[in-house]
Amino acid sequence: MFLTDILNDPVCQPIKKSYERWYRVMEETIEFWLPDSEWHTKAHSARVLILALVMGHQKGLSDEEMNALGMAAIFHDSRRLDDGIDKGHGSRAAAYYKDYCREHNLPYEAVTYYITYYHDQDDSLGMSEIAKSPSLSERALLLYQIFKDADALDRFRLGADALDVNMLRTEEAYKFVEFAKYLLLKSSKNLT
Ligand SMILES: [Fe+2]
Ligand SMILES: [Fe+2]
Repeated sequence: MFLTDILNDPVCQPIKKSYERWYRVMEETIEFWLPDSEWHTKAHSARVLILALVMGHQKGLSDEEMNALGMAAIFHDSRRLDDGIDKGHGSRAAAYYKDYCREHNLPYEAVTYYITYYHDQDDSLGMSEIAKSPSLSERALLLYQIFKDADALDRFRLGADALDVNMLRTEEAYKFVEFAKYLLLKSSKNLT
């Protein structure tokens, strides 16, 4: 399995099972529209999955909340049409997630839908839409921020200067900057 060796790192140990579960779902059943993508590969989604889970664990999220983040990680870039900003890939991926739940009997989480939907939009829009939604608790705002930070932490794949750490949203994310670089280094020895 991709990144297996890093899972025995003490930071990853608590989220190992969860990572393996969602990684397998992605690898075996999630179809990516841009399979030859340079920057938004399944390897990118796997790193975002690890980062979201380790930060979620540090925040003390419930199992349900951890699963919500895990699902967002494996779906969020599955419906890209190009490697640029491609605004709208979030909404397409969210629709895919919703259909997938129905077809594969996966429990649907509204918070996963919203995170996925708005992950490619400005925080101000994502946060206000999430806050307005009657189906979500205020915890959803925290999950959205953790997820966006996890996605941002994998920007180092684009270059050493591709992430402005001052733009990170959560305290946890600052603590994981070096870990994100380490993760990337490890995965470059596998497949990217
Ligand atoms: Fe994205
Ligand atoms: Fe992404």
